[in-house]
Amino acid sequence: MRCTVFGTGYLGATHAACMAELGHDVLGVDIDPGKVAKLSSGEVPFYEPGLRDVLRRNLDSGRLRFTTSYEEAAEFADLHFLGVGTPQKKGEYGADLRHVNSVIDTLVPHLTRPAVIVGKSTVPVGTAADLGARARALATTDVEVAWNPEFLREGFAVDDTLRPDRLVLGLDASRPGMAEEMVREMYAPIIEDGVPFLITDLATAELVKVSANAFLATKISFINAVSEVCEATGADVTQLADALGYDARIGRRFLNAGLGFGGGCLPKDIRAFMARAGELGADHASAFLREVDNINMRRRTKVVELASAACGGSLLGANVAVLGAAFKPDSDDVRDSPALNVAGMIQLHGAAVSVYDPKALENSKRVFPTLNYATSVAEACERADVVLVLTEWAEFTRLRPADLAPFVRATSIIDGRNCLDAEEWRAASWTYRGLGRR
Ligand code: UDX
Repeated sequence: MRCTVFGTGYLGATHAACMAELGHDVLGVDIDPGKVAKLSSGEVPFYEPGLRDVLRRNLDSGRLRFTTSYEEAAEFADLHFLGVGTPQKKGEYGADLRHVNSVIDTLVPHLTRPAVIVGKSTVPVGTAADLGARARALATTDVEVAWNPEFLREGFAVDDTLRPDRLVLGLDASRPGMAEEMVREMYAPIIEDGVPFLITDLATAELVKVSANAFLATKISFINAVSEVCEATGADVTQLADALGYDARIGRRFLNAGLGFGGGCLPKDIRAFMARAGELGADHASAFLREVDNINMRRRTKVVELASAACGGSLLGANVAVLGAAFKPDSDDVRDSPALNVAGMIQLHGAAVSVYDPKALENSKRVFPTLNYATSVAEACERADVVLVLTEWAEFTRLRPADLAPFVRATSIIDGRNCLDAEEWRAASWTYRGLGRR
């Protein structure tokens, strides 16, 4: 089959490469000529393990190409995936839909044959129906809009796309068309592997994605709230999470207490959910998410307080080493990164902050140019009064006390991700502080 994929960010580039991997002919489309040139030459513009190999293999086979031309895209295929970003609006909670709207406005006038547009981006409920109406107003041919939300995680993007937990396709029941048949054919190898394929209406498909992310965010904030109580009583949240996790109804995943969630999805998606619920007159249904957000942000302040306490009650003039800038390991993404946020707050309190991350330094410098960046763990820890581990990269979880001791001024470490062996650090005479742990 043939398809296009609009948008070549995490979602779009991965989807384009993976659809080619399934054996389809794919044209990736982006308005940014720089991204198109990079992808066309086999370079992934962001860090995502395994994606470069899939990209190169399919560029070489001729099944995958990239372009900036919407006209070429309209001519190339009758199935168009939409994978552009829906960031949080500046200064408000709602999602900014300008990119999805712009794809419809630019693509649809070029369509000369009946076409199916399948949205994958995370959007507020009701967007797909609006886009359908928007497309029909511009079209000179039949255009069907369906929604197939993407659940991929950064760091596992290829695997999550080729071996998802489920596929969801929302259809406009009032306008039966070709979408189901075309999408089934596109995903045939995945469906044949036994992956559940659920057909819903448009609104349900949009809400599945938003509520999945809201649930995950809630699970993380739940354990972080319990973590606050652990701190007040001397209990250990990591042991508690293990014990909770054995209950199959709860499960251990997403119960890692620590600095909380960040990234390009969970924070903005719960805020967009609240904004949309408000517009629909259902604020009460999403009010708990405000608390989920508050708990999450409180963990960041807690780490700043711990750092201050470690430096004798004031950060003014202290040297602070921050290990980790990405919002999670195996990613160079610093969007709403808890680690960078904490580094920035500590700097505001008058400390000299030195940040090191294995992959996210370039992106960090772009969004936060006033921090000091080191090129190694050793350089970041040089004369540090306290070391903060804020992203659980394997490079940091492997660190032994003796690796850092020669560089630091004080043997004091804060484990913002509860990813180190507390006993080992204490046995080596370090002052170890975790979150929700004694
Ligand atoms: C998330 C969803 O998991 C994915 O399904 C959706 O498509 C996009 O949003 P992603 O943003 O890539 O994916 O990251 P994820 O692995 O979910 O982690 C999100 C944040 O939560 C990270 O900052 C991570 O450090 C934090 N987290 C995760 C915790 O603090 N504790 C946990 O137990 C799990």
